[in-house]
Amino acid sequence: MCGIIGCAAKGLRVAPILHKGLKMLEYRGYDSAGIATVEDGVIHVKKDAGKIDEIHERMNLDDLPGSIGIAHTRWATHGAPSMVNAHPHLDCAGRVALVHNGVIENFLELKEELLDKRHVFKSRTDTEVIVHLIEEAMKSERNLLKAVMAAARRLRGSYALAVISADEPDKIVLARNESPLAIGIGDGMNFAASDVAAFIEHTRKVIFLDNGEVGYITPTEARVFKLETGMEVEKRIVELDWTPEMAMKSGYPHFMLKEIYEQPQSIREALKTQEKYLDLITEFLDRGKDVFLLAAGTSYNACVAASYMFSKLARLATTPVIASEFIENYGKSIGIDTVILAVSQSGETADVLAAIEHARLSAATILGLTNVVGSTLTRVSRAYILQNSGPEIGVAATKTFTAQLTVLAQLALRLARKRGKLAQYEIDELKDELEKLPELVEKTLKISDEPIKRLAKELKDAGSIFFLGRGISYATALEARLKVMELSYIPCIAYPAGESKHGPISVIEPGYPVFFIAPQDSTRKQIIGNIMEMKARGAKIYCVGTEGDEELEENSDWWLGLPKVNEVLSPVIYVIPFQLLAYYLAVERGYDPDKPRNLAKSVTVQ
Ligand code: AGP
Repeated sequence: MCGIIGCAAKGLRVAPILHKGLKMLEYRGYDSAGIATVEDGVIHVKKDAGKIDEIHERMNLDDLPGSIGIAHTRWATHGAPSMVNAHPHLDCAGRVALVHNGVIENFLELKEELLDKRHVFKSRTDTEVIVHLIEEAMKSERNLLKAVMAAARRLRGSYALAVISADEPDKIVLARNESPLAIGIGDGMNFAASDVAAFIEHTRKVIFLDNGEVGYITPTEARVFKLETGMEVEKRIVELDWTPEMAMKSGYPHFMLKEIYEQPQSIREALKTQEKYLDLITEFLDRGKDVFLLAAGTSYNACVAASYMFSKLARLATTPVIASEFIENYGKSIGIDTVILAVSQSGETADVLAAIEHARLSAATILGLTNVVGSTLTRVSRAYILQNSGPEIGVAATKTFTAQLTVLAQLALRLARKRGKLAQYEIDELKDELEKLPELVEKTLKISDEPIKRLAKELKDAGSIFFLGRGISYATALEARLKVMELSYIPCIAYPAGESKHGPISVIEPGYPVFFIAPQDSTRKQIIGNIMEMKARGAKIYCVGTEGDEELEENSDWWLGLPKVNEVLSPVIYVIPFQLLAYYLAVERGYDPDKPRNLAKSVTVQ
């Protein structure tokens, strides 16, 4: 997830305006940035790796000439953060410049084709392919809008594009598929951006582009067309009453709630993980004698869930291990046959990196799953996968957790197929269920929000809360505990439901809140017994189960029924109500959900 902005103004230098707009988009990506403007038939570019302020310090982004320009702040997906990989990207002749937010899935085959036509590539990005496609199309179209349309028709994947040309210096051409793009209608000045936050201080009159639409803006005009037909589209101008800060959160009161609601999209992006990397990691996992799933915090809880996925689908026993305990626990028993899959959204967690370094020195194979290109984890891994969730601003991991689970489930499925542990119809069924996950999450958000918001009012003064689950739902219970504890500061307990009678049940007294995570899966029969144990001691039973499970509903004091989902994917759905509970409890208790006390987004100290 990057941020793009374009501005076409009459008689005004746009570089300072673009620079300011980029700052409003920095929450979307902050590993490199750049601006391109047109003046006197020449495209002027300044771009580099680093945060916008650092780049501005080094090269003064405001002094670029010209009243038409585009800009970009990056969250790298293809090609580590560097000056050459930073946007804008130019064509061979330097006559066309482009900024892009999204992922082009078929960029490798397009690049092959363009290399055959003697195009020269400077970067390792997927994006640069688009500007060379436009250059190629210009040879026949001789019109920037038509050339962008021709290029866009060749692309598979997500994109929001803004394109300028030295030969058509009065306009910015736009295209959208999946990635957000909005036009801002100003007075003698028009904008286009990934988020209205970038131009809301100048205008609140907005046109939102839909998928499959292209168009252009000039200082005085904005026109939109259907990519497929070329037909012009009459677009409605919406007048927004947002403050810039509200805009950055797309109208949500906090980044955490926005990120919880971004999960359908971040799961879609995780389902786009490149086949070749999934196959490569699967190959290494298959060869491992001992396989450890190593992480901290929420990422560790994803590893616990993954250990059930690998065992149930691929018959591979893996050991989830808390990073800070790895060396003490397994340091002396690893070697050349050991495979470590390290999971870290930031890719910078010190405990994880220290454990990896120890394992590497013992000749173990290091694999990585992360959300940050260019992070240390990507550099120390033999092979790694990116989860493409975009930057997560809230300290509490939400969308990165469900994206990790989505990638880990794809790995387990591939390993099962490679090992012939599942019949073809079982593989097809699970693939379908994976594809349906974004929709199921959308449904779960709709079903859960209001009941959970009300529940937070009831539980805001709870002294402690208990979370129980069996099988893979034990991982969901662990994550529910972590979210509620780190956001509401209420001490919480999480256990495999079958274990509670071996001690933890002693804390139960009348009215003690106990949550059961109980989907209809292979553990459903046993969990009813655990509910009865708790009820017998006066606990107040809060149950999240499969909609229509009347027996569970009847035996609960509070019930939430969620859509049916495959057992190994249930944590993706069942964690959602608990992310919301943590959020609303923090709000009810007057705490900042985005910046919980004592915590940091990335823990880079051991
Ligand atoms: C989760 O909400 C916390 N922010 C924290 O536990 C986090 O998951 C942990 O620090 C691991 O971070 P990583 O995924 O970046 O390695």
